Amino acid sequence: MYKELVLNNDPKAIISETIRTLRTNLQFASVDKKLRTILITSSVPGEGKSFIAANLAVAFAQGGTRVLLVDCDIRKGRQHYIFDSHNQKGLSNLLLENVWEKYPEYIQETKIKNLSVMFRGVTPPNPSELLASEKNKELIEILKNHYDLVIFDSAPVNGGLTDSLIMSTLVDGVVIVSVAKETPKSLLNTTKKSLQNVNANILGTVLNRASESSKKYYGHYYG
Ligand SMILES: Nc1ncnc2c1ncn2[C@@H]1O[C@H](COP(=O)(O)OP(=O)(O)O)[C@@H](O)[C@H]1O
Ligand SMILES: [Mg+2]
Repeated sequence: MYKELVLNNDPKAIISETIRTLRTNLQFASVDKKLRTILITSSVPGEGKSFIAANLAVAFAQGGTRVLLVDCDIRKGRQHYIFDSHNQKGLSNLLLENVWEKYPEYIQETKIKNLSVMFRGVTPPNPSELLASEKNKELIEILKNHYDLVIFDSAPVNGGLTDSLIMSTLVDGVVIVSVAKETPKSLLNTTKKSLQNVNANILGTVLNRASESSKKYYGHYYG
């Protein structure tokens, strides 16, 4: 079941410990104003956004927080794979509906207590427009009033798409995932600058790394 969810399957793994540390740091990140919405993004595809977003959601859920994980990588999101499900209905479809009335139909329970998910939905011709819409803003307001925490898995910042920059302006904070020894520093800086240019609240960077040879999970967190 849910084979990428190490926090569920192997709570003692190093990466599970790292992700719990990330959770703790995020809990402390905003003393005055509680974080209700967090965006997980990165510079380029394949750095582990979806993996970290899903496992971070599990970490919060395990700690008793009622979490909704939303896949807002409308073009390439794969949370439905991570949760052994399909993508028939999701965020992109919901954004064409009356969000107030219909949002519960697009949320699915998972086998993990306190954790619900919304998948990305079918790829529309205009993902950026959908994310920039008033409806999406309205939806985020609704969702954060119904859950303790909403975690958004998103598209990468680089590559010419504005999707995650738009999303970064709609959430309380942003976590950047990068790969140890692989993500060039200059690229990470470009990502940071792009996010700063839109006044995103950058909470920290996760140094993620998958060691293929040992099949072990690794990761570090920087405040
Ligand atoms: N720390 C890690 N340890 C092992 N595998 C990882 C780790 N982070 C990511 N992966 C794997 O790497 C692949 C790409 O990760 P993914 O989360 O899909 O990246 P992104 O969402 O940034 O494109 C996936 O197969 C995922 O399971
Ligand atoms: Mg992804």
